[in-house]
This record gives sequence, structure tokens and C-alpha cells, in this order.
Amino acid sequence: KFAAGAIVSAALLATPAFAACDSGEMVIKFSHVTAETGHPKGEAAAAIAKRINEEMDGTACMEVFANSTLFDDNKVMEALLLGDVQVAAPSLSKFESFTKKYRVFDLPFLFPNMDAVNNFTQGPVGKDLLNAINDKGYVGLGYIYNGLKHFSADRPLIKPSDAEGLKFRVQTSDVAVAMIEAMGASAQKLAFSEVYGALQTGVVDGQENTWSNIYSKKFFEVQDGVTVTNHQLLTYLAITSKEWLDSLDPEVRDQFLTIFNEEVVAANAKATALNEQARENIVAAGGVVRELTPEQRQVWVDTMRPVWDQFKDDIGQDVIDAAVAAGE
Ligand code: LMR
Repeated sequence: KFAAGAIVSAALLATPAFAACDSGEMVIKFSHVTAETGHPKGEAAAAIAKRINEEMDGTACMEVFANSTLFDDNKVMEALLLGDVQVAAPSLSKFESFTKKYRVFDLPFLFPNMDAVNNFTQGPVGKDLLNAINDKGYVGLGYIYNGLKHFSADRPLIKPSDAEGLKFRVQTSDVAVAMIEAMGASAQKLAFSEVYGALQTGVVDGQENTWSNIYSKKFFEVQDGVTVTNHQLLTYLAITSKEWLDSLDPEVRDQFLTIFNEEVVAANAKATALNEQARENIVAAGGVVRELTPEQRQVWVDTMRPVWDQFKDDIGQDVIDAAVAAGE
């Protein structure tokens, strides 16, 4: 349960990446959990902050708190409503307690690539989904892309059955749990900041994430290798609180939203290249990356695809159909 004291002390101790605020300016805090550089979300946040600090100087300033230094993705949701932070961008897998609609983004082997994701998020169904948690006091500002995920473990994974009996860290997503169980493995939900330690100490045997997260958080150093599965999407919902957004002067709000949207579009165009670079960095650092043949990959698809049926009522067949069509 939420502890107000813990929030206050975390907020006092954390310092932003750089001090950008002068007295009299409205402070906009952006809290997230990933690396600041070489990472799609870290770079998006930094680019948004740079523009706000240049173009809204004297009116508003943005401070970015990366690497879970201020809040994890669980606590940040309450911190937004309390006004302790104004912007966050948790992954779409982390909204289970707010809506089940975002489960569509977690369905394994749904999106073949990031162009399909872009077609879906920029189409009518994706745009509508931005509003799925408005009734809880939040406003969806936009989708910030990361990429498709891959599996790693403390032993080689070529077939899904290689994972039998192993324990995998997952985000707070029931779809992810079902997907791991379909492999005959077990899943443990853990905060992102705890993953490296859990892999290192053997609390879990494996994990699934994008190249940028696997590289920047050094997961590959405490794993046997990474198997190129591209099995599931990692993308973020940038959010703010409705109360805060409504409290802004209209012209300040327009300027903030314009900068935000423009920088998200620019950052999303670079996400895939950043992940490819992170993959190269893993290999250059001695990490093992294993490719699957099309036949080998098909076994993973056949193992995980039945998971869709478990969640289709929560998501809606029409939404799933629109997501599938976006990749065709
Ligand atoms: C995770 O928990 O693995 C990711 O959601 C972290 C992130 O923000 O990329």
C-alpha cells in the first residue's frame, strides 16, 4: 500500500539530471526508470526537457529523473495524482490495475515490427486507447516507442521448452505471466530496478526485454545469452494528471503539448536505430546473441499464440483485429 512518507523522502533525496529551473518558473518533473542516453525513453525525455527549458524559459522548466531515482513505475502513478511529479511514461504492460484494454499491446507475436506498431497507435483505435485511463484522473499524452523484446536466461534458449522449470522476471502484466507459463516456466513480477540484482543472485533465471534495456542495465552480463525472438512489444504511455493539465493557462498548455508531441514523434523515429546500436554494443562487449531459424522461431509462435484467447474478452476482438491489420 502507498506510503506518503516514502514518497516525500524519495522526492527530497533525488536530484534531476541537471538543474534547469529558475525561481518563479513552473517546475514540470518527468520521472522514469530507464537509462538517460542510448535509450529511446531516456533520449525522448531529455529532448522534451531541452525544448521546454529553451522555449518556455521564464514560464516553465522540466527536470528529468531517470533510472528510478525518484519513483518506480508503481509509485509514480500515485505521485502523479498527488502532484509530486507531472509526467511519467510507464510501459503499457504496467497499467493492469487501471485498464485491461492495454493488454492488446502485450499479446505475443502480434506486431511484426515497429511500423506495424506505428500504424496501430496512429490509427483510430490506437488514438482512442490513449484515453483508456482518463476516468482515473490521467491524460495520455502519447506513445513513446521502445521496441520488440527478446528472451535471455542463464542457459541457451533455442526452443521454448529449454525454459521449462526456469523462473523469468516479468513486468506487472498478466499477459506476460500467461506467456511464460505457456513455455512451462514460471513468472515473477518485479520492478525494473530489481531485475539486475535478481538475475545476478539467481532469484530469477531469465528475463525478456529490448536491446536498449538489456544493454543499458547490463542484464547480458549476468545471463548466458540473449535469443532473438522479437516476441512482444515494449512501448510506453506518456501520461500526466488531468488536474495538472487543466490547471495550466491555455497558451502554456498548448505550448507544452506542442513541444511534447513534436519531440515524441522525433524520438519514435530513432527508437529502432537505438535498439540496433544497443544490440551491437552487447556483442562488442562480449555478450552472446543467438539467432533462430524461421522454423525454430515458429515453434515459439505456436507455443505462445494460444495466450491470445485468454485475453480476447478483456481487450475486444475488434481491437485485436485492428492491431493485426496494422501489421499486414
Ligand atoms: C521493464 O520494467 O522491463 C520496462 O518497462 C522498463 C522500461 O521502462 O523500459
